[in-house]
Amino acid sequence: MTGLKKERERAQALRALIEHHNYRYYVLDDPEVSDAEYDRLFGELVKLESAHPELVSADSPTQRVGAAPLDEFAAVAHRVPMLSLNNAFSEDEVASFDRRCREALGVDALEYVGEPKFDGLAISLRYEAGAFVQGATRGDGSTGEDVTINLRTIRAIPLRLRGAAPPKVLEVRGEVLIFREDFERLNRRQREHGEKEFANPRNAAAGSLRQLDSRITAARPLRFYAYGIGEAEGGPTRARHSELLDWMAALGLPVCAERRVLRGAGDLLEFYRDLAERRAALAYDIDGVVYKVNSLEQQRRLGFVARAPRFAVAHKFPAEEAATEVVAIEVQVGRTGAITPVARLKPVFVGGATVTNATLHNEDELKRKDIRVGDTVIVRRAGDVIPEVVRSLPEARPAHAREFKMPAHCPVCGSGVIRLPEEAVARCSGGLYCPAQRKQSILHFASRRAMDIEGLGEKLVEQLVDRERVKTPADIYALEASMLADLEHMGEKSAQNVLDAIEHSRRTTLERFIYALGIRNVGEATARDLARRFGGLDGLIRASEEDLQGVRDVGPVVAYSIRRFFAEAHNRHVIGELRARGLTWPEQAPQASQGAGRFGGKTFVLTGTLASMTRDEARQRIEAGGGKVAGSVSKKTDFVVAGADPGSKLATAQELGVAVLDEAAFLQLLGGPRGG
Ligand code: IVH
Repeated sequence: MTGLKKERERAQALRALIEHHNYRYYVLDDPEVSDAEYDRLFGELVKLESAHPELVSADSPTQRVGAAPLDEFAAVAHRVPMLSLNNAFSEDEVASFDRRCREALGVDALEYVGEPKFDGLAISLRYEAGAFVQGATRGDGSTGEDVTINLRTIRAIPLRLRGAAPPKVLEVRGEVLIFREDFERLNRRQREHGEKEFANPRNAAAGSLRQLDSRITAARPLRFYAYGIGEAEGGPTRARHSELLDWMAALGLPVCAERRVLRGAGDLLEFYRDLAERRAALAYDIDGVVYKVNSLEQQRRLGFVARAPRFAVAHKFPAEEAATEVVAIEVQVGRTGAITPVARLKPVFVGGATVTNATLHNEDELKRKDIRVGDTVIVRRAGDVIPEVVRSLPEARPAHAREFKMPAHCPVCGSGVIRLPEEAVARCSGGLYCPAQRKQSILHFASRRAMDIEGLGEKLVEQLVDRERVKTPADIYALEASMLADLEHMGEKSAQNVLDAIEHSRRTTLERFIYALGIRNVGEATARDLARRFGGLDGLIRASEEDLQGVRDVGPVVAYSIRRFFAEAHNRHVIGELRARGLTWPEQAPQASQGAGRFGGKTFVLTGTLASMTRDEARQRIEAGGGKVAGSVSKKTDFVVAGADPGSKLATAQELGVAVLDEAAFLQLLGGPRGG
């Protein structure tokens, strides 16, 4: 249709112009036109496209918002994982990083790139033949969430790469963030609309990106900086990271101006000091700098350890500190019953957020720092870390300052508070009963190795506890179909399956039941030993600490822990209810002594992967021989079995002089591979 030719050409010209101005603004940081002129061009394009909808193209700047709200984000697998960075907190650590890299590569000096460590949110943008097709959050590094519709609303992210020959595939890795000035404006707007303000730009950016309705995201002033690539195919080959960054900028991607090629450790520290000094003048928050070996070939040779590259490190700025007053000291009860003293503070702005609570960690820390109610204290907050009280200023202590005493009873449920001799943490002993520990204790109770109630997983327990349909493990056995069927992700069929699994679990074994109680320091192996030794539950409940210590591997600490658990009336009450609701197990005659079998009394620790069996199988075979498997290496460990890629347990074993078995030696000890 020739009649539309003029309009089509104008629309194309406007799109090109708008993209050009985006590039000047977001990439070059050097706008050519005023905001008003930009808005005028944009308005003209909107008008033209609405008069002639057939002219609209998917990558038109007008099409950034428009997708329908989602119900949830789909999962995206990262084919090239999104890694994290190791941290360095001192100049010495930076010097060792440089030394390690040089030694591994056998060179005298290395070239690096220094970049800011952006305090935002890592994302991955996928371009195919130059078009932005998918964007995802980092997630756990292997799988993230598909937030494409939200990323499309960010004007700094080009919908189409510049240049005539775009790469076939390019995954751009970078950070979404909000400039400080925009953040202030955003919070002012939130305030005016009576909505909740954000704590800091990072939280605001994260919250904005996780909106299911992209119109909300579009109204948030998000920015983006690219700092690396993931999957790439069909682009020109680059030898250096610095060249990759320049190339990305040429493709129209924003790459921050604060990047430098650096030579040697001296340059690294100079870069750090320079940015630390200019930190407050930057438009965005940073929490340190990142150094990356520049040569991509050298990067490849250095490779990775665990989840982080060996060729890069984040040199973090020290956490920010501020002084304020302790208004009160209270305790919090965690999911596992840990009781943590927390300082309630006069609100103070530190590390990018207003802090009103700070952890005091535990009783010993609190005593060591001698922190009292009424004290003026130094509070520290780094990034997303929980704020902590560093020290008090005794010179500012008022006469009325009060010392704090740990409560003897749990503030949530009233059960006794105990502190095991070798632990720094005090805990509520009402594990089966305490509301703070409900979800955790019920999940553990139902878990595979405990009562093995299939289908009673995290999501279900969450809902059952939140609706107060289950308060203790005993309530599980009073559940009815109608109490499950109306829950999320629960059809009639799955409700019946869960009920069947619950029914099935009523007939169990004593060792499973003991393990299911979640007594601190009583793992499966100890539960089994206790079951054998006492034969029935009543004997165990009545056992003295001395009796308990007669059981293999039960020392004074474990004995005390067991004793205190059964001494707590709340727990005994729940156990009574469980029995009343039909839980049974075969009772046996108590066994006087233990330690028989091929490995009788020997303790093993497993590390690394075995080729011939899973860790579970290895454990079962050790236990079948009367041995015990522990989680960590100590002087009491008899053998460490080290498979491929052993962890730090191997080093600990060598330090302590514990015998180490490789897979072949272990198999020999077991009497050859199973069936062979
Ligand atoms: S590179 C292979 N560069 O830090 C290395 N990360 O701890 C991958 N971050 O999740 C990361 N600024 O969100 C890199 N200039 C920068 C960065 C940066 C901030 C964040 C990123 C990542 C985290 C890793």
